[in-house]
Amino acid sequence: MQQTPSGHPVTGWWTEASIYQIYPRSFADSDGDGVGDLPGITARLDHLVELGVDAVWLSPFYPSPQADAGYDVADYRDVDPLFGTLADADKLIAEARSRGLRVIVDLVPNHTSSAHRWFQAALSAAPGSAERSRYIFRDGLGPTGDQPPNDWQSVFGGPAWTRTVDPDGQPGQWYLHLFDTGQPDLNWDNPEVHAEFLDVLRFWLDRGVDGFRVDVAHGLVKQADLADWQEPQEILSGNEVDKPRPPMWDQEGVHEIYRQWRQLLDSYPGERVLVAEAWVEPAERLARYVRPDEMHQAFNFEYLLAAWTAPAQYAVITRSLEATDSVGAPTTWVLSNHDVVRHASRLGLPVGTARPNGIGIGDPQPDAALGLRRARAATLLMLALPGSAYLYQGEELGLPEHTTLPDEARQDPTWARSGHTQRGRDGCRVPIPWEADAPSYGFGPSDASWLPQPPLWAEYALDRQRDVPGSTYELYRTALRLRRAHGLGRGTLEWLSSGDEVLTFRNGELTVLTNFGATPVPVPAGAELLASSAPLHDDGTVPTDVTVWVRA
Ligand code: GLC
Repeated sequence: MQQTPSGHPVTGWWTEASIYQIYPRSFADSDGDGVGDLPGITARLDHLVELGVDAVWLSPFYPSPQADAGYDVADYRDVDPLFGTLADADKLIAEARSRGLRVIVDLVPNHTSSAHRWFQAALSAAPGSAERSRYIFRDGLGPTGDQPPNDWQSVFGGPAWTRTVDPDGQPGQWYLHLFDTGQPDLNWDNPEVHAEFLDVLRFWLDRGVDGFRVDVAHGLVKQADLADWQEPQEILSGNEVDKPRPPMWDQEGVHEIYRQWRQLLDSYPGERVLVAEAWVEPAERLARYVRPDEMHQAFNFEYLLAAWTAPAQYAVITRSLEATDSVGAPTTWVLSNHDVVRHASRLGLPVGTARPNGIGIGDPQPDAALGLRRARAATLLMLALPGSAYLYQGEELGLPEHTTLPDEARQDPTWARSGHTQRGRDGCRVPIPWEADAPSYGFGPSDASWLPQPPLWAEYALDRQRDVPGSTYELYRTALRLRRAHGLGRGTLEWLSSGDEVLTFRNGELTVLTNFGATPVPVPAGAELLASSAPLHDDGTVPTDVTVWVRA
């Protein structure tokens, strides 16, 4: 049982949960328009029960112009017709609950959509007005104000400021958007913004959700002087102790917001969770988001980014556990999500390759077989770690990135805003395959798919893997079943070896061994093999890039 520094057990369903991320537009399409929707998800909930996860996290489904695939929210209290209705959301929550699945929804508080009624009101109001003070409007620099107020760049490329046009047609003030032009940043110095989001939280808590994944949790508060920052903009900007902190990320003021939200969640019955999406380094700095009176969990992106070597994995696992233990929070683990190259492809790139922002035709292609082999080993290692594990839809099928998506099909604003230098995140967002021989591989009733699915999706389809011994899907099912049965999520990690090529640890009665090196490694003598990410050698040794779970 994990404990706080003062010895209290860390409680809450999320502390040991496996949580499955659904990206609604690419999960299951009920009406054949090529975009997944909420009724599609509801119809497929039994898949998640069969898989053996505890909860789902739904990426945004709110009304939105879809400038950033729904992370540009125009109305926080409704459902986009593309995805269904509010009644469909209620049904999904109820159906999930009746199957024992918890539901986490996405909350996007750093910015609204430019189509949000607040931003529209701000555009037609005067500089200095109450309407404009909900966002970050500034006069431009230079004699005619035609230079942006500072040098900040958008995470997606290009300037982080856009100039407005006044009602009389003259060029006006500029507004800040750390992401797309269609995502104006809110001004969290304004009490009205605080009140609004407390109310949005109540709206979804009252509808029965079990928690919130908080988008860009490290970005809400900006340094008051909006000082220039010469560095190129990245969502992961690294806050090493000896480097100055970027003026747009990880400012002290964000923590007060989460303390307030925590109080609100605590006032509700049941166990409701706040999960921070905060690209903050190092782990000690990230741990500040999950202090006892703030959020409950934060995504562990340092783990996702760690190289596939024994020393790197040992270091990141050890550091993660220490950092969260220091504040009494549960550790989390994640290998894939809708913003990064899927791990079945990422791990097929040569060790040491910089994290690519998308892969396209003409780019060096990952080694697919090696990537899948390592992904299976990485997943089996991850699912044995104490804490909670986040899984991204399709990874249970061993789905790779779509690495040859035609550039003209790309929809991530990153591609255009970076001047076609960063391919962006479409390759991990392609609708997932359910049935090898059905239209759109069973994604929906028609051939339509908002991003084209590659022909190789057939071999990854769920119906080609279900009940097939050795398939990736069956590996996930076995691992999730054993993880539950052995209480691994609430266990304790004890390192048995941490060499340059092999890692071995114990969690309860399970011993876990991963061989990263070229030399086959014997399984501990007399041990019973419970799971293996790939077949062992005939002499029973563990091959390269394989993880085994044994009971010694
Ligand atoms: C988060 C989301 C990402 C989105 C960005 C802006 O990082 O995960 O998909 O583009 O925030 O909302």
